[in-house]
Amino acid sequence: MTSRFTLAVGAATALATLLFVAPAMDLLPGEACAAQAAKPGVSFAEDVLPLLKFKCSKCHQPDGEGYEKSGFDISSYDTVMKGTKFGAMIIAGDPDASSLMRMLDWGVSPDIRMPHGKKQLSTCDRDLIRTWIFEGAKDN
Ligand code: HEC
Repeated sequence: MTSRFTLAVGAATALATLLFVAPAMDLLPGEACAAQAAKPGVSFAEDVLPLLKFKCSKCHQPDGEGYEKSGFDISSYDTVMKGTKFGAMIIAGDPDASSLMRMLDWGVSPDIRMPHGKKQLSTCDRDLIRTWIFEGAKDN
């Protein structure tokens, strides 16, 4: 009896783990797609910051080469909005006028295309950031 019970519990746990983990895996930064990017209501804390941390933090936090060269630090909302040592990269409400979008869309010279020396962000990831800026680049 005990072992059959243990087996049943084991199977239920495995199933629960599968059900719980599978949807969470869909949301890994860099892989989340169309669903969120196209819809209004992008969150800085839940959508944008995890994406920036995943794709940019290696170089854009204190000690990183991108931070050392440009001063752009993606650690928090305030540092992202502050921009580089030359000024803001984001103009709330206007993604087309935001330098950050031009760098991510590769509408700039190769040496400042971001992420530097890496694959371009997916359209989906870029649209997520674009929508967030369009919606006012809020600390939400
Ligand atoms: C492999 C390292 C690396 C990664 C990853 C990286 N960057 Fe950079 N970034 C740099 C370097 C180096 C510079 C300085 C470029 C220069 O001015 O020559 C820079 C500069 C910048 C600048 C300022 C450009 C300017 O006008 O001076 C911005 C904004 C920026 N990066 C955003 C990002 C974003 C957003 C990401 C993630 C999607 C990212 N970077 C990923 C290395 C990186």
